[in-house]
Amino acid sequence: MSKKISIPGIIDPHVHFRTPGAEYKEDYRSGSAAALAGGVTYVLDMPNTNPATTTEADLDWKIRETEKIAGNYSSSERSESRSAIFVGISRQARAVNSLKFGFNFGATNNNLEEIKKVEDKIASIKVYFGSSTGNLLVNDLKIIEKMMQETTKVITVHAEDEELIQKNTKKYEGQADPKIHSLIRNPETAASAVEKLLNLVRKTNHPVYFCHISTKDEVELIKKAKAEGLPVYAEVTPHHLFLDESAYDKWGNFVKVNPPIRSKDHVKALWDAIDAGIIDCLGSDHAPHLPEEKKQGYWQAPSGIPGVETLLPLILNAVNEGKLTMEKLIELTSTNASRIFGLDNAGAETIVDMNEIWEVNAKDLHSKCGWSPYEGMGLKGRVISI
Ligand code: DOR
Ligand code: ZN
Repeated sequence: MSKKISIPGIIDPHVHFRTPGAEYKEDYRSGSAAALAGGVTYVLDMPNTNPATTTEADLDWKIRETEKIAGNYSSSERSESRSAIFVGISRQARAVNSLKFGFNFGATNNNLEEIKKVEDKIASIKVYFGSSTGNLLVNDLKIIEKMMQETTKVITVHAEDEELIQKNTKKYEGQADPKIHSLIRNPETAASAVEKLLNLVRKTNHPVYFCHISTKDEVELIKKAKAEGLPVYAEVTPHHLFLDESAYDKWGNFVKVNPPIRSKDHVKALWDAIDAGIIDCLGSDHAPHLPEEKKQGYWQAPSGIPGVETLLPLILNAVNEGKLTMEKLIELTSTNASRIFGLDNAGAETIVDMNEIWEVNAKDLHSKCGWSPYEGMGLKGRVISI
């Protein structure tokens, strides 16, 4: 018997839709179709595109392009447009027509003036404190401190310690087993970065959202910071909750991601952190790369795992397994993000069937990348419509 329920539209605060510059991996249309088919009604796109989104002009271009294909309706317009537009058109077109976009603006070593110009048009200022896909990197604490003092918008941060990554990289030169990724970017590199940034929050009281927390060590640091009353928030990704290092055996560089997948102990610590109320949001960190790219050797293969369409199904299955409550799911997937980033998610809803049993098949997913590390996984709980 089906068990259909309505929940608030899912907000995914962390997607890489690859536009402009790598539309062969994803574009706004395919990314939107994937999001909506996965029950996601609001995405915050990341700035590590080509060019990176670091000037007002770059941002305005993204706003215009997404408005062309996705109505950024107000909530009352949304419900009207729903019935008007959606009757008789395909699921994919419907998806594209109803997704809301927000933007994380890229910080560089010298674009503070641009940041100040765009503060009221963005969801967050994104700081890559460790390098990842693209060329955004700000690892000078003085620059970040000044940014905190002179802006008000929440800073979202990719917290890995660049110096430690560089040091560890040297140690593994000449090796090519995908597993070295979790050793090069080990738990210490993540915790060290989080600690340095928390110290800046202690000085400035500026709100900071830690993207993709992946270790027990970070959980402990953030738990302590929250207990001190600091304005800090934590995100966790599906791949850090549902995959662990054993996935390298099957998937090799396909599961190469920054920060890397971790041991089972760390995975358990993340679930405990959800229970304990230390994690605020689930973000997919949807980072599609094509199979041809992922099939290259360790040093060439790009980092990133797709996930916007599987985020909600995986977590619905976890609710069915008793790993978290539906109330917690709603906090993690919409109410907290809407509060932290100031997003109007009113009127958006996602209908799910908690009893439907199905299997993830990448051929049915909408991302251009065409693969999923959850391929073949049996899930109970499915998105019906938005
Ligand atoms: O693995 C990752 N891939 N981590 C990031 O921070 C960026 C992302 C991407 O854009 O490919
Ligand atoms: Zn990311």
